[in-house]
Amino acid sequence: MIRFENVSVTYRGGVHALRDVSLTIDDGEFVVIVGLSGAGKSTLLRALNGLVPATAGSITVDGREVVGAGRRELREIRSQIGMIFQTFNLVNRTTVLNNVLMGRLAKVPAWRSTLGLWPAADREIAFRALERVGIVEKAYVRASDLSGGQQQRVGIARALAQEPTVMLADEPVAALDPVTSHQVMGDLRRINTELGITTLVNLHFLDLARHYGRRLVGLRDGELVYDGDIADVDDETFREIYGRAITPDDLLDEGAR
Ligand SMILES: Nc1ncnc2c1ncn2[C@@H]1O[C@H](COP(=O)(O)OP(=O)(O)O)[C@@H](O)[C@H]1O
Ligand SMILES: [Mg+2]
Repeated sequence: MIRFENVSVTYRGGVHALRDVSLTIDDGEFVVIVGLSGAGKSTLLRALNGLVPATAGSITVDGREVVGAGRRELREIRSQIGMIFQTFNLVNRTTVLNNVLMGRLAKVPAWRSTLGLWPAADREIAFRALERVGIVEKAYVRASDLSGGQQQRVGIARALAQEPTVMLADEPVAALDPVTSHQVMGDLRRINTELGITTLVNLHFLDLARHYGRRLVGLRDGELVYDGDIADVDDETFREIYGRAITPDDLLDEGAR
């Protein structure tokens, strides 16, 4: 379970990126977070794994406090949180398999991986993760030789290889075309169902949010302004979260036409 209690984040320079946010997410939930650029979506995910320090409040993951945690504690908390990035963050000049094995770094001593001495058990976990996203046949291909959608699948497999209980995806489809975006969102959703991994996804496109989300959280200017079931969301909800009318740019399938 993830719990934010009265969390605020103020960056140096005085930007209030999160203001008094309280939010409880149960194990296995699939939560989509929307809001205009600058609303605080990335800050929310970064605060959860301690990449950005909360300046007030409490954030717990399975009862462990993130705010003010020491290095060792943070390492343990992060080892259970898989991250998926907009720009994939792969090491391009090495193989898909090596990229996925890097997900094991949180679990094994670093010297072993730097020498390329991955135990059979880790390789097995990596191959299973690649199977789950349907690209096991690419294991020995260089990451840079894959399409964007395939690279994001490697990103998902790398996060899975970590055997996380929580997955955080920060605009995972922002660099992808519409067809591939649907595939990647479908993968995340399926993995959530199959493995029960609690998943938080920041999304820009409202139609994707509506199609794949179960629970919707809306941020506006650092404040949590909506939290509810996706079934209860209509255009008015989005207008309130965005504070303006919805435009074709806010919709993946519209914007692509
Ligand atoms: N490292 C940082 N230093 C200072 N201000 C930041 C930093 N990161 C983000 N911000 C500011 O915090 C606010 C929220 O940003 P962010 O969480 O990235 O929003 P979103 O992901 O919804 O676009 C914005 O005003 C942004 O400019
Ligand atoms: Mg962001």
